[in-house]
Amino acid sequence: MKIAVLSAGPDEPRVAAIPETVKKFIGLGAEVAVEKGAGTRASISDQDYADAGASLGARADVLSGADAILVVEGPEPSELAGAKTGALLVGALDPVRREAAIEGYARAGLDAIAMEWMPRITRAQSMDILSSQSNLAGYKAVVDAASAYGRAFPMMMTAAGTVSPAKVFVMGVGVAGLQAIATAKRLGAQVSATDVRSATREQIMSLGAKPIFVESVEGIEGEGSGGYAGEMSDEYKKAQAELVSSHIAKQDIVITTALIPGRPAPRLISDAQLATMRGGSVIVDLAAEAGGNVEGTVAGETVVRHGVHVIGAVQLSRSLAGDASALFARNLYNFLAAFWDAEEKRPLFPDDDEIVRGVRLTHGGKIVNERLQPAGE
Ligand code: NAI
Repeated sequence: MKIAVLSAGPDEPRVAAIPETVKKFIGLGAEVAVEKGAGTRASISDQDYADAGASLGARADVLSGADAILVVEGPEPSELAGAKTGALLVGALDPVRREAAIEGYARAGLDAIAMEWMPRITRAQSMDILSSQSNLAGYKAVVDAASAYGRAFPMMMTAAGTVSPAKVFVMGVGVAGLQAIATAKRLGAQVSATDVRSATREQIMSLGAKPIFVESVEGIEGEGSGGYAGEMSDEYKKAQAELVSSHIAKQDIVITTALIPGRPAPRLISDAQLATMRGGSVIVDLAAEAGGNVEGTVAGETVVRHGVHVIGAVQLSRSLAGDASALFARNLYNFLAAFWDAEEKRPLFPDDDEIVRGVRLTHGGKIVNERLQPAGE
């Protein structure tokens, strides 16, 4: 089994294998070829890969004869010219937005594996790229907010008087939100948080933050399938908007992370609510790419409205490329190793396995994932 590790495009500093996972693949009996310069922006040199036992080369050499191709983001099918029929292509392939590319992978006979469609089951936790990258994004959102905020986070008692602690409100307490709470607490802020899933109340309290929940609407659970949130009722949304209005005017920093799979991000903060915040406050909208939780968020940009900095955060884990690559690379290793056949020295994927059904997009020249089948088929 030859495993190829490709260099990503200009906007993507992360890499899909690190020396540690290269060694582990070699330990399983594979050979690993890394495209020259693939790790540079994650501070991993070609020599580091060579020391781990990988060969290094230009893309065409690395791809030639490869049985598995590891990537961070999905390359255009034309960038994979020369790849072997039946080769695995494993990474964050973004199947929803890259329909034509997925068709191209099928035509090229590649077995495309979209790691972001990993099912949320215990067995797959160590393979979950959304969790590993969201955790880092939650941390970085708070660090970015602290840096944009013209005041300090912790309370300081000084001879010149007291500096008040920053008030941080986290909206959406999934993986990113939990890490944002923990990071803001460590920096000494006063932290509160909200979510639609009632299970998060205890998690918020266990991190020493204050839960802010809609209590007035009966029967709220908010839990959709697979641990994700569902769309809430209009009655709930109204109650939530009132709750946010009364709370947000007193906050200095707001981190929003709310997502609903397959839908635009829920709108949690209107322009009018934003206008009630003190000038110099900061909002980091981690849902920016999915349309934003905040009215007027611009993905990839910081806009100042009513004196409030609104940061439309995109793929924050990229700015922590070293750690982000290490976690991503281990997710990919854990996935391939879980299906590894010791005798054949390659992974074997049973068609009826829940993980395989979740992540496999194309196989045998066809699109096989049920989420990509046209309605009615
Ligand atoms: P996510 O990124 O889909 O959403 C972020 C948060 O926003 C969620 O907590 C969601 O409930 C919340 N949210 C959605 N709509 C909202 C609204 N209108 N108002 C306020 N909050 C709203 O979620 P993420 O981070 O991917 O995790 C969701 C759950 O899945 C967590 O409980 C996590 O522990 C679990 N999980 C399980 C895994 C496994 O078992 N393999 C792997 C990863 C996560």
